[in-house]
Amino acid sequence: MKAFRKLLQRTPLYGAYKALGHYPDYWYWKLRGEPARSPHLLKQRTVQEYAQRYGLRVLVETGTYYGEMVAAMRKRFDEIYSVEYALQLARRAQKKFQRWPHIHILEGDSQVRVPEVLKSLRQPALFWLDAGYYGWAGLQGDKQRLSTELDAILRHEVRGHIILMDDAHGLNGQNGAPTVEELKRRIESEFPGRSVDVKYDILRIVGSK
Ligand SMILES: C[S@@+](CC[C@H](N)C(=O)[O-])C[C@H]1O[C@@H](n2cnc3c(N)ncnc32)[C@H](O)[C@@H]1O
Repeated sequence: MKAFRKLLQRTPLYGAYKALGHYPDYWYWKLRGEPARSPHLLKQRTVQEYAQRYGLRVLVETGTYYGEMVAAMRKRFDEIYSVEYALQLARRAQKKFQRWPHIHILEGDSQVRVPEVLKSLRQPALFWLDAGYYGWAGLQGDKQRLSTELDAILRHEVRGHIILMDDAHGLNGQNGAPTVEELKRRIESEFPGRSVDVKYDILRIVGSK
């Protein structure tokens, strides 16, 4: 099964195979009483819900991976930027989404690419930060990456960006990660008008001042 999966990962069919699994995955999660780590379908619904609630037409994602969020949000945003550090994954996604001019797959480190994307933004965007800030094999030893990105977004001249960050359980005070409480205190005091909460393992930073 593992070998089959590895083989499938190398084909263009892998995205469709993963997408098919979202519904059983969701219902299995419901059956288990909604444990802390949430299924991808719930993440998609959360991204959609916040975009709708705040009237946002631009999505900026960090961590493209196999492009599942991009594919699910393809018709829901006017512009989508997604940053991927792993060259092979970035190239694969660039190829996969090349026929849609409103989708921009950017290869590189999110802490470099996010400030670059911000320079071109003229309207508030929804940020889906999902580049494995703590606990995922991203750029090892880079403890400041999340803060760098959050500060760039929250200090940007365009007001009203909304930030969702996946895998909030990684904010546990270990290995250089702040706790959710520490991050919440810092953001709410440095950026008055902003509020920080976690639900279904997704950190949510809202407010527009
Ligand atoms: C959890 S996956 C992203 C899943 C995807 N957002 C989705 O919803 O389908 C994390 C991805 O982040 C990428 N990544 C890790 N460190 C990164 C960095 N510094 N900059 C950009 N991407 C990074 C990994 O290569 C991996 O593809």
